[in-house]
Amino acid sequence: MSLISLALLGASILSAPLDPVETHVEATLAKMTLKEKITLIGGDRSMFIRPNLRVGIPEIKMSDGPVGVRTWGPSTAYPAGIVLAAAFDPSLSQRFGESIGRDAKARGVHIWLAPGVNLARVPQNGRNFEYQGEDPYLTSRGAVAVIKGVQSQGVVATVKHFAANDHENDRNMDSSEVDERTLREIYLRPFEAAVKEGHVGAVMSGYNKLNGTYASEHQWLVQGVLKGDWGFDGIYMSDWGAAHSSRGTYLHGLDLEMPSPDFMNEKSLLQELDKGQLDPKPLDDKVRRILRIIYRFGFDKKPQLDPTIPKDDPASDRVALAIAREGTVLLKNDGILPLRRDRVRNVLVLGPDVVPANISGGGSSYTDPFHKISIPDAIKKIAGSGVEVNFRPVIGKINEAFAFTGYEGGLKGEYFANKTLSGTPTLVRKDAGIDFNWHVAPGKGLAQTDFSVRWTGSFRAKSDGAYVFAARTDDGVRVYVDGKLMLDRWIDRGAATDTFQLNLKKGQSYALKVEYYQGMGDAIAQFGLMPVEELLSNTLPTDLVRSADAVVVSVGFNSDTESEGQDRPFEIPMEQRLMIERVTKLSKRCIVVNHSGAAIGTTPWIDGTAAFIQAGYPGQNGNQALAEILFGDVNPSGKSPVTFPKALLGTYYATAYPPVKGKMFYREGLFMGYRWFDKNNVAPRFPFGFGLSYTKFRFGGLKLHPIVNGLEVEATVTNTGSVKGDEVVQLYAGYAQSSVPRAVRELKGFQRVSLAPGQSKTVHLALDRNAVAFYDVAKHGWVVEAGDVTVWVGDSSRDLPLKGIWSLR
Ligand code: BGC
Repeated sequence: MSLISLALLGASILSAPLDPVETHVEATLAKMTLKEKITLIGGDRSMFIRPNLRVGIPEIKMSDGPVGVRTWGPSTAYPAGIVLAAAFDPSLSQRFGESIGRDAKARGVHIWLAPGVNLARVPQNGRNFEYQGEDPYLTSRGAVAVIKGVQSQGVVATVKHFAANDHENDRNMDSSEVDERTLREIYLRPFEAAVKEGHVGAVMSGYNKLNGTYASEHQWLVQGVLKGDWGFDGIYMSDWGAAHSSRGTYLHGLDLEMPSPDFMNEKSLLQELDKGQLDPKPLDDKVRRILRIIYRFGFDKKPQLDPTIPKDDPASDRVALAIAREGTVLLKNDGILPLRRDRVRNVLVLGPDVVPANISGGGSSYTDPFHKISIPDAIKKIAGSGVEVNFRPVIGKINEAFAFTGYEGGLKGEYFANKTLSGTPTLVRKDAGIDFNWHVAPGKGLAQTDFSVRWTGSFRAKSDGAYVFAARTDDGVRVYVDGKLMLDRWIDRGAATDTFQLNLKKGQSYALKVEYYQGMGDAIAQFGLMPVEELLSNTLPTDLVRSADAVVVSVGFNSDTESEGQDRPFEIPMEQRLMIERVTKLSKRCIVVNHSGAAIGTTPWIDGTAAFIQAGYPGQNGNQALAEILFGDVNPSGKSPVTFPKALLGTYYATAYPPVKGKMFYREGLFMGYRWFDKNNVAPRFPFGFGLSYTKFRFGGLKLHPIVNGLEVEATVTNTGSVKGDEVVQLYAGYAQSSVPRAVRELKGFQRVSLAPGQSKTVHLALDRNAVAFYDVAKHGWVVEAGDVTVWVGDSSRDLPLKGIWSLR
């Protein structure tokens, strides 16, 4: 044993309580060599912590989430986090967590890499679907419940991505610029709850920088806030490849570098540690934390694999269905729903991604289920044999645009051996069109990566009217028409399609310039144009649309277009908007079902629809839940965890995104999501917390009872309609006057209640005085101000019939 470890052991014996876990940790630590300690703090084979059999440390196996236990073959694919959040039901979140815990044990998984608790600050974030919406309180309640559920089964949960990792494009480079009060009150809250209330075992860093420093080595964030202020004693791990230096990570609180020790390794640490040139305390702290979690969960005592739990577990399947039933949100209904089996004889389903089923967004959370059900099959199953179901896979033909070669005399292609179109081109040639997926260098003098191309030329429109211009690129692209910049996505990213529309005049010639660069990954450059008319006209079955009693139009994104690693547009693809517009011209019975992880643009097409359902990504049984809702077997009760704006323009979203020169400025500060809409008196399309039911509820009987350190809010809700249903009673609070800027109101409590027709229930919601505190940056602490706090109760952030005043002294 070295002198250092003897000294440390001595120190810890003096200070450590007689906790058997801590005693065990110290005993093992004392036996480990420097080399062994370094070996423990770097991941192995992407999903493991290395075993050390000499000192009795087992191998630790991880799996991704949050949609399921996704890494080790097929597994139950639950609805995405955004659907779980829409249920506003922490008891269901806990059931989900327990179910995940069992799925993990069926696969011998010790650490589940979820839940994700970043906030839907902007709708474009490609990972919103994994998270739980825009509100820190709602996200906190859900996260704590999920963590408790998972960890109750003896599996470690990992809350991620710490912190302010709220967009995907350039996520490895960008810095989120956020002031401290906004961080503390909004973006850090769910992490704080996960640590303090959920006792989460692990926290994963974001890829991003926070105010200029990588989250994986951010001293203030990790050692100051997470481990200092909140007392987190578990493992702080890097996201996969999010570590960027040996010293920063070693000294500033990263405990485990994943997926492999690229920076914290023998080569970078051992010699200096050995020579006493590097402080060994951080290393011991990292090892202690990893051992603490291993011993706390008893991973050294028994195998994690429980072969008695089936991998395709019917119990998990039921939980997946329960979440979809509660978390599907009905946002518009002109009375068409629920469909009546005695009146509806035929249903037409249209859309892309309908078969086999659009169950999840993409990336590291995508879970491959054992089985899933499509919308038409689910409707057949639920509606019964009296209802005929037809399906037509209406798919936009946008990719056909890439075959466009109608350039006058071809395009001049200038190829540069750099990513910035700088200097003299290495290669100049004529290209007939832009439809490349290079697997080799595009030409002599160029490499497979790090090149850029400028194409210039002109084209003549062959008809009058609207044209769609489409570019699919990996990585950046800029398009100019007649000198005007029409598309600008000059960023590193996976293949993504961007479109814009222009009205062209028959016979007129237009100048075109397309600029492209290839950074890493695939080298895809595709561009073209086609009349909007040609996008859909051949595929829409107009007779069937006219004659159907209900036309279910499935739209939105999918696991390619809404995914980790890339952001997505606010609007759903152009051909889908066109499809809805065409259908609504032919039928008054158009029910739009949308798949997205946050808000989308619904203007103007929403006006023509009879109903609009936000399905999110509903998992393997989601379409069964959808069919049950369509036919009224399940009364919808989900509430939107995000605000749907009428348009981006005129809201903070328009300036909040994209980042500028590697910086994402959180200029709206505290006023994100519904807080911005309330403060600026802007009516949203659908407010936060809103969702329709097939019955009606009445609120009354507000009573405010002061209690020790807070208030108890009592309210009665009555089902005044004719069918049973669930309502989510929501409590908001806000100061009329304050010494600091404040939100008009914020969600502070909620409760889901089930009510038979005519039935009333009284709910009691506790409001702790600390819940209305603000963070005083100068005083480094939370302050509860005396004053009048308005308390509202209702069923959305904008429908709050009950109001009272709490005089807080
Ligand atoms: C994601 C994490 C994930 C990890 C491991 C990363 O790309 O950002 O959320 O847990 O991969 O697959």
